[in-house]
Amino acid sequence: MAPSTQPRHASPLTSLSDASLQRSCGRAIRCAMTYDARFPALSDLKNCAERRIPKFVWEYLDSGTGSEATKARNRSALDKVGLMPSILHGEFTPDLTTSFLGADLPLPFGIAPVGMSGLMWPDAERYLAQSANRLGIPYTLSTVATAAPEDIQNVLGENGWFQMYPPRDEGIRRDMLKRARASGFTTLVLTVDVPVASRRERQTRSGLTNPPRLTPRLLAQVALRPAWALGMAHRGMPHMRMLDAYANAATNNLPVNAHVGYLLRTSPDWDYVKWLRDAWQGPFVVKGVLRGKDAERLQGLGVDAVWVSNHAGRQFDAAPATIDVLPAIRRATTLPIIFDSGIEGGLDILRALASGANFVMLGRAWHYALAALGPEGPDHLAHILKSDLIANMGQLGARSLRTLPKPFKLD
Ligand SMILES: Cc1cc2nc3c(=O)[nH]c(=O)nc-3n(C[C@H](O)[C@H](O)[C@H](O)COP(=O)(O)O)c2cc1C
Repeated sequence: MAPSTQPRHASPLTSLSDASLQRSCGRAIRCAMTYDARFPALSDLKNCAERRIPKFVWEYLDSGTGSEATKARNRSALDKVGLMPSILHGEFTPDLTTSFLGADLPLPFGIAPVGMSGLMWPDAERYLAQSANRLGIPYTLSTVATAAPEDIQNVLGENGWFQMYPPRDEGIRRDMLKRARASGFTTLVLTVDVPVASRRERQTRSGLTNPPRLTPRLLAQVALRPAWALGMAHRGMPHMRMLDAYANAATNNLPVNAHVGYLLRTSPDWDYVKWLRDAWQGPFVVKGVLRGKDAERLQGLGVDAVWVSNHAGRQFDAAPATIDVLPAIRRATTLPIIFDSGIEGGLDILRALASGANFVMLGRAWHYALAALGPEGPDHLAHILKSDLIANMGQLGARSLRTLPKPFKLD
């Protein structure tokens, strides 16, 4: 399906060429329905996505680790952040613009890095980058995405960010930075909350291996999802494209059963941060910060922003909800703060901004949208988030994102 240039929030769903979407996600499909009517919230996209992608892919995208207490905590803690509505503030159109890391942005949210995006929907990285470019928001490409930086450079806007899982080898490290820079990525993000692999039991139960191998069990799951299967048949099984270039160089040093992902060193240290700071000319962000004193130390090393995240509950099941640690991190540093983990709508974005964040990212949500609506999904999700921001800012009497009320704790 060719990428659309216009979101179809108001066009009839019946005009969709993707017949399988109509079968899997549209019960009342014969009447003229719009995306807005059929998918008014992220939860609608999520439900549809689950019916459109194979079970092992769904488990990869949706799961946390352990009993998923951290994932649940992210949600319940966000629900406890209260904002007092205001009355008699007159009519106004809320200003959703913000300025972040030197860029003037039309919206206060962006796309977080997600490894193997292309497993969720063929060409996911290209569609996400295109949508981000249209919207003028940041798109963060993961080191372990199924597109390499060069693959999407022609659709990348001015706000392409590159997320690094740090390579062990200095030569590879320098080369990755060079490739990201040459492909037009402006901002470097180092992820530090994956010191070791987490167990993600749901993924294991679904039969998913690393790297993914299409066993008879997985093929049976694929057979139940024809639209996904057709897309993959056309594009080929996705893999970590950026690492292709280094596979041969490193083969000699790898254990026999290791795949190319072992090139990456999962647990960098403070010196590594210092090294990267010196090596990258441009905004440098550290992702996975949960403590004020770490933010303070990172500020001392010359980092440009910290990214408060618990990796959506995928790494450690006793981690605090990110919204609960945000105020302390705000007090500890004057750096700009990016926030993620558990954001599901415009109201959540306002909760994070009111609690001290300067910018908000979403990971899974964009992929639910892609799996549900294909290339048109990300634009529709952005439309949902924007509408929700406007509606809730109206209730708060907040004319801009700089005039949000102080949050309080709800029971
Ligand atoms: C399927 C999946 C893969 C992810 N892969 C990466 C990755 O490659 N690099 C990274 O820094 N974070 C990764 N993350 C974490 C996201 O960048 C982000 O922190 C998280 O998804 C935000 O929470 P949310 O999904 O509730 O919005 C991944 C998250 C998911 C769900």
